[in-house]
Amino acid sequence: MSPEYFLRSLLLIILATFSANASNWLYLAKLSSVGSISEEETCEKLKGLIQRQVQMCKRNLEVMDSVRRGAQLAIEECQYQFRNRRWNCSTLDTLPVFGKVVTQGTREAAFVYAISSAGVAFAVTRACSSGELDKCGCDRTVQGGSPQGFQWSGCSDNIAYGVAFSQSFVDIRERSKGASSNRALMNLHNNEAGRKAILNNMRVECKCHGVSGSCEFKTCWKAMPPFRKVGNVLKEKFDGATEVEQSEVGSTKVLVPKNSQFKPHTDEDLVYLDSSPDFCDHDLKNGVLGTSGRQCNKTSKAIDGCELMCCGRGFHTDEVEVVERCSCKFHWCCSVKCKPCHRVVEIHTCR
Ligand SMILES: *[C@@H]1O[C@H](CO)[C@@H](O)[C@H](O)[C@H]1NC(C)=O
Ligand SMILES: *[C@@H]1O[C@H](CO)[C@@H](O)[C@H](O)[C@H]1NC(C)=O
Repeated sequence: MSPEYFLRSLLLIILATFSANASNWLYLAKLSSVGSISEEETCEKLKGLIQRQVQMCKRNLEVMDSVRRGAQLAIEECQYQFRNRRWNCSTLDTLPVFGKVVTQGTREAAFVYAISSAGVAFAVTRACSSGELDKCGCDRTVQGGSPQGFQWSGCSDNIAYGVAFSQSFVDIRERSKGASSNRALMNLHNNEAGRKAILNNMRVECKCHGVSGSCEFKTCWKAMPPFRKVGNVLKEKFDGATEVEQSEVGSTKVLVPKNSQFKPHTDEDLVYLDSSPDFCDHDLKNGVLGTSGRQCNKTSKAIDGCELMCCGRGFHTDEVEVVERCSCKFHWCCSVKCKPCHRVVEIHTCR
């Protein structure tokens, strides 16, 4: 770790202390490794964590690097899923890391909470399977014959461990507050929906055994979906998210759809409390970068189209020359030779 990077990380951690509201543990993503989280006192220095997370950190030092990787995975996936939208999930160097968008109870916040709790469950489970952790390994309870005639064998992903860890570590923030405020209920619901996106999409992977590759015997194991799949599922849930409000059933507070005509959400759906800003204008105070300077698609009528992306401000067009490989020929043996071709493409950028 370079000294500059280290100081920057440290600064972020210190700044994180002053932001009470965001899911601050996501700042772990800004560290280049948690090789530095190898001693208990390092946990104390990770000020983005609340006290009970610090305690968990101390008791689970070896897992903390997976938590950091989970946070990074979540941010990368969020940026991929939102690359063509006005809010593109870019993180800020100031705090909170996603701006106010995520400290308010918006749809975007719902996505960020869901993908982050999924990220932790995913990364911890992956580390279990790869034998990196002493506390967990493959799920060996998946055993025996299956009705489909194959044999369960090999390393099934220990998703139960990853999910349980994510529940303890990520949800602890909301649970400490007593879990009765609207926001706590919203966050807990979306955290769980994120983990469900993995649990409900577990797959069966198999290997064939038999003479010369025949599939006489098949052994199979349970595997997590690729994280891209989890991102796709949650992005769909984002598009169909339910606006909710608090209601009381007996003495228990619950979230119910604001519009009573809507069917109630399930535990896989995302829910939100506050409507989102339009994200059009640069508003650093609220951590909104605005869409000026964003590339847009001139022919699309969707949110990536210039009309919507640029919020009616218009756009300008540049011609850019791109070099591509073309007229490729196969030469015996064994190379492919191509010519460089120059092509002019138009790039549209929001004013
Ligand atoms: C998001 O958009 C801003 C401009 O609004 C741009 O500066 C930034 O690089 C984009 N971030 C990502 C992750 O694409
Ligand atoms: C722009 O949008 C159109 C219509 O949705 C689509 O067919 C095209 O592939 C898009 N172009 C780019 C560069 O994404």
